[in-house]
Amino acid sequence: MSSTVKVSVIYYSSTGFSAEIAKEIAEAAEKAGAEVRLRKAAELAPEAAIASNEAWAAHAAASAGVPVATPQDVEWADAVIFGTPTRFGNVSSQLKQFLDTLGGLWAQGRLADKVYSGFVTTATTHGGQESTLLALYNSIHHFGGLVVAPGYTDPVKYIDGNPYGTSHVDGQGNNPVGPQTRDAARHQAERVVRIAGALKAGLAA
Ligand SMILES: Cc1cc2nc3c(=O)[nH]c(=O)nc-3n(C[C@H](O)[C@H](O)[C@H](O)COP(=O)(O)O)c2cc1C
Repeated sequence: MSSTVKVSVIYYSSTGFSAEIAKEIAEAAEKAGAEVRLRKAAELAPEAAIASNEAWAAHAAASAGVPVATPQDVEWADAVIFGTPTRFGNVSSQLKQFLDTLGGLWAQGRLADKVYSGFVTTATTHGGQESTLLALYNSIHHFGGLVVAPGYTDPVKYIDGNPYGTSHVDGQGNNPVGPQTRDAARHQAERVVRIAGALKAGLAA
């Protein structure tokens, strides 16, 4: 069995903020030595809803080439990093729908013994960031997965201040993903790869 850590970054994004963090995390995981799959959750919203929002329509077009996540992307991975915009303090229905397609793998015990972590974006400060990540992490416990949250394991966490996962405030669409969020994203990716590597080696021993 190869010792290379396999990481799937699986996210949903309407207007591109979560997608931007997903890219940063995927690149950092790759730099940390992992083999990475970057995947988006399938869109569920009607075309008319997407077309009615300029930023949403633009991001849908720009991300058309990103492969849609399948359960196999979770089965393949040693570590999965999920990302979502908050929806009233909860996980987006698109990402949740993807989680709900994992029942078959769950029934075979194939979601267990993997590392999982999460990131979130909101329009407003706080805005449901921690509740969204905790809601996401509920499912990980049912998988038998290991939540690897960033905690305060690096000085960057004292700046971004969210021990549950990388988080970004988009300021109603006006605040691009900047250095603070990118630092947190890179740290989270590196930590996930490191812990997943140790777990993989330990399980193989
Ligand atoms: C239905 C809906 C509910 C939302 N609820 C919240 C919320 O409770 N708090 C908040 O700060 N932002 C909320 N937002 C805003 C998005 O979570 C936020 O703009 C996010 O950064 C967008 O990420 P994206 O660009 O990846 O889609 C909501 C957006 C929608 C469409």
